[in-house]
Amino acid sequence: MEKALKVLFLSPEVTPYAKTGGLADVAGTLPGALRRLGIDVRVALPYYRTVREKEVPTETVLSGLEVPTGGENLTCNVRATRAKDDGIVYFIERDAFFDRDHLYTSGNGDYSDNLERFSFFSRAALLFARALGFECDIIHCHDWQTGPVPAFLKTLYAADPFLSRTGSIFTIHNMGYQGIFPPELLPASGLPAGTFHPAGVEYWGKISLLKAGILYADAVTTVSPTYAREIQTPEYGMGMEGILAQRAADLSGILNGVDYGDWNPTADPHIAAPYGIADLDGKSICKLALIREMGLRDSLISRPLFALVSRLTVQKGYDLLLEVIEALVGLDAGLVVLASGGSAFRAPLDAYREKYPENIAVRIGFDEPLAHRIMAGADIFLAPSRYEPCGLTQIYALRYGTIPLVRATGGLEDTVSGFDPVTGHGTGFKFTDFDAGAFLEQITRAVRVFNNRKAWATVVQNAMQADFSWDEPARKYAALYEKVARRREHSRQ
Ligand code: ADP
Ligand code: GLC
Repeated sequence: MEKALKVLFLSPEVTPYAKTGGLADVAGTLPGALRRLGIDVRVALPYYRTVREKEVPTETVLSGLEVPTGGENLTCNVRATRAKDDGIVYFIERDAFFDRDHLYTSGNGDYSDNLERFSFFSRAALLFARALGFECDIIHCHDWQTGPVPAFLKTLYAADPFLSRTGSIFTIHNMGYQGIFPPELLPASGLPAGTFHPAGVEYWGKISLLKAGILYADAVTTVSPTYAREIQTPEYGMGMEGILAQRAADLSGILNGVDYGDWNPTADPHIAAPYGIADLDGKSICKLALIREMGLRDSLISRPLFALVSRLTVQKGYDLLLEVIEALVGLDAGLVVLASGGSAFRAPLDAYREKYPENIAVRIGFDEPLAHRIMAGADIFLAPSRYEPCGLTQIYALRYGTIPLVRATGGLEDTVSGFDPVTGHGTGFKFTDFDAGAFLEQITRAVRVFNNRKAWATVVQNAMQADFSWDEPARKYAALYEKVARRREHSRQ
């Protein structure tokens, strides 16, 4: 038998330890699926205040590890814990960087030392793997916070006896976050001065850690096939389409999976009553419970209840939602919004809630149990995203029989199929143009189908049967790990 591959999986957020969005879900659940394939995957993330507060039981496996940063040696400890399936999870502990209220931003915007914090995390990961003798074949990096890793490997550690055989894969979860910093901070990153050029980390005169990851990794992936195509165009590449096109031969889209252990209406500890495909009575109980919790009027139980759960950002299409809200209320429907983060959309959302308190409920904040209760209690899940690399909420919604109504972009396009009442096929509703008229047309259609009990029962059954578990995507990642490891082996011979 061939030797089991060793993979270090580096992510700035991982469930159940630290989360702001879907990356945490991916980093918390994909490693387990890879381990089931026999790969020795170990995960690493910073030891944030939230990890400490959750009282995750850890053991310190390294103390005082020196990490060159900004011209001096800073130190960190490395703690380890065991995930649910017994897999190893490492935490990089340096309180001056990570013992803070939030992961990336405070109330006044991004932490000013994010470049230093995450370059440190990236370099510490390489150095602790070496110090512990974890000889990884692949370091699988996620998003800009880990972008320095491929660049470190190809420059500072290219001839390192321990690290020179390690390959890197860089997964892009969102082109909207490019890790851009002023050029004078380059020394703080620890990246060699020689990387600051257009074929390196330099991006319009600044540093981009996303670009570092894209250019120096052995292979680049993103989280859906459609997004992999889209980001090579000016509309979705956010300025990096040329850089991505340059890497087209090594760029692929692997659709995210989900863990139905965490999101399963038959056994969800957060919801009012369990239900499943064969018995949907519990879903009505969840709907009434949600209506009451949100202070909406009881009679909405017989009307379509729309929901949106997401970060309150331009990406998620709140501007379109605001344009259709009056019409939605005009259709005698309800709307529940759970949105995290502050933004200009907050005031207008609140104004609508005040104007239509019986139909509209808005909660601002990050509330995981409530996200589950909404998933279970709503009828239609909205995702009018301007762009969406994959999107996990619409996949969870499908399993909860909450029909996704999405803009056909990125992973939304790849996970939802349009319902056709004539053939009875399809799992949701889709519109293509980022346009309030197109959105409203599908809202109106969804209400029409909702009013037809038989058709609605069919789409709900179709949705609940859709399967996006990790098995297939994990096999694709495993094949890519093998390919990169083989390629590096050849190039060394
Ligand atoms: P993104 O990563 O762009 O935020 P995804 O759909 O991939 O979008 O993942 C979002 C994840 O974060 C889901 O698990 C969703 O339930 C969760 N989530 C988003 N907003 C909130 C919120 N306000 N409160 C609780 N959970 C949220
Ligand atoms: C990002 C994307 C989202 C994706 C998630 C996990 O935050 O915005 O579409 O599902 O990462 O890959």
